[in-house]
Amino acid sequence: MDIHVVSKSDNRQHTAFQIPAPTDPLKPSSIRLKTALLGLTSNNLTYALGGTQLRWWDAYPVPSTCPAPYNDQSKWGIVPAWGLATVLESTIPEITPGTTFFGFWPTSSHSIDLELTPTEPAGHWRETSPHRQNLMSLYNRYMVFDTQGKEITEFAWDVAVRPIWVAGYVFSEYVFTSDPETRPVIHPLGGTDGWTTQDSDLSKAVFVSLAASTKTGRATAYNFFCRPPRKGPVGFLQVTSSPSSIAEAADKFIPSFPVKALGYEDITHSGEWLAGIKAERIVIADFGARDGALDDLIKVIQSNPELDSLKVTIMQVGKQQKVPTPPYHITTLS
Ligand SMILES: NC(=O)c1ccc[n+]([C@@H]2O[C@H](COP(=O)([O-])OP(=O)(O)OC[C@H]3O[C@@H](n4cnc5c(N)ncnc54)[C@H](OP(=O)(O)O)[C@@H]3O)[C@@H](O)[C@H]2O)c1
Repeated sequence: MDIHVVSKSDNRQHTAFQIPAPTDPLKPSSIRLKTALLGLTSNNLTYALGGTQLRWWDAYPVPSTCPAPYNDQSKWGIVPAWGLATVLESTIPEITPGTTFFGFWPTSSHSIDLELTPTEPAGHWRETSPHRQNLMSLYNRYMVFDTQGKEITEFAWDVAVRPIWVAGYVFSEYVFTSDPETRPVIHPLGGTDGWTTQDSDLSKAVFVSLAASTKTGRATAYNFFCRPPRKGPVGFLQVTSSPSSIAEAADKFIPSFPVKALGYEDITHSGEWLAGIKAERIVIADFGARDGALDDLIKVIQSNPELDSLKVTIMQVGKQQKVPTPPYHITTLS
C-alpha cells in the first residue's frame, strides 16, 4: 500500500514508500476505506504549510508501520486532500462495503479507518476519533456520495471544485453576511466569537480580491454578484494575472456595485479608482497572490490621503501557489 509523507518543517522534503496492509480488526462504529479520486490543488500546499497551526496534520498521522524516520509523527505528516474514497470494511450496519464517501482523505493509497457517528442530513457522518477533534468541524464531515453507476473518474469536477466553491459561499454569506438578521455571522476561522456584525458588514466597504482567478476568488466573486442590492460591497477590485478573462466573467452579471479587474503590474495605479468609490472601509482578501502584491497594495493605500484614513481589514485566505522555503510561519487574520 503506497504512502506519501512530507516533512512538517520543510515541505520540499517528501518521499513515498509502501507499508503493510493493516491486520488489526476494525473498531466498532468504524469503516475502513481506500482513496479512489483526490483533488490535488493549491489547497494541498496550504495544508502542508499550515498543517501544524491549523491541525491539518492531525487528520492522518503517519502510521507506526512506516519505516524510521518516517514513523515520527512530530516530524513527518500526510497531506490531506478532498475527494472520494471507497469502503472496504464496515462495522456500521447502514454502511456496506463498496459505498463511496466524499470528504477529507490522505494523499496516499493505504487503507484508513474512520470512526463515525450519524449526523444531519441523512447520509452525512461525523468523524469522532479523539486525535481529530481539534480540526475544524468541516474536515470531520463525511457524506455518502451517489456515483449513479458511473465510473469514479467522471467526478473529477466535484472533487476539484466542490470544497472550494463552498469556501467562497461561506465567505460571502456568513463571514461577510448580507443578512445578519437571518444568518449567523461566522468568524473567518470558524465559530462566532471575535467577529462582530460590524466586522461582517460590507455595505460601506470596497473589497479587493488578490489572486482573483483562484477557484476560491471566483466563488467569492460569484456570490458577491448574487447579493441583494445595497448589501455591499460598494466596489469590487479583482487583481489577477488574467484581468481580461476576469473582466469578461464579471460582464456576465449585472452587479449593483462598480467592478474592475487589474493585472498585478497595475496595482500601483489602483489608488485613484479605489478612492473614487468613496468607501469607509477597505477589505482585502488575499487568495494567494503573486510575490509582493499585498505589499504593493498596502503602499498604494498608505500613500493616498483619501485611503490612508480608512479602516483596512486583511484576510490572508491563501498563500502563493508554490512550496515555500522554511522557516514557516503563517498569519491567518489581521
Ligand atoms: N482559508 C480557507 O478557508 C481557504 C479555503 C479555500 C482555499 N483556501 C486557499 O486559497 C488559495 C487558493 O486556492 P484555490 O484552490 O482557489 O487556488 P487555485 O484555483 O488552484 O489557484 C490557481 C491560481 O493561483 C494563482 N497563483 C498565484 N501564484 C501562482 C503561481 N506562482 N503559479 C501559478 N498560479 C499562481 C493564479 O491566479 P492569478 O493569476 O489570479 O494570480 C492561478 O490562477 C489556496 O492557498 C487555498 O489553500 C483557503
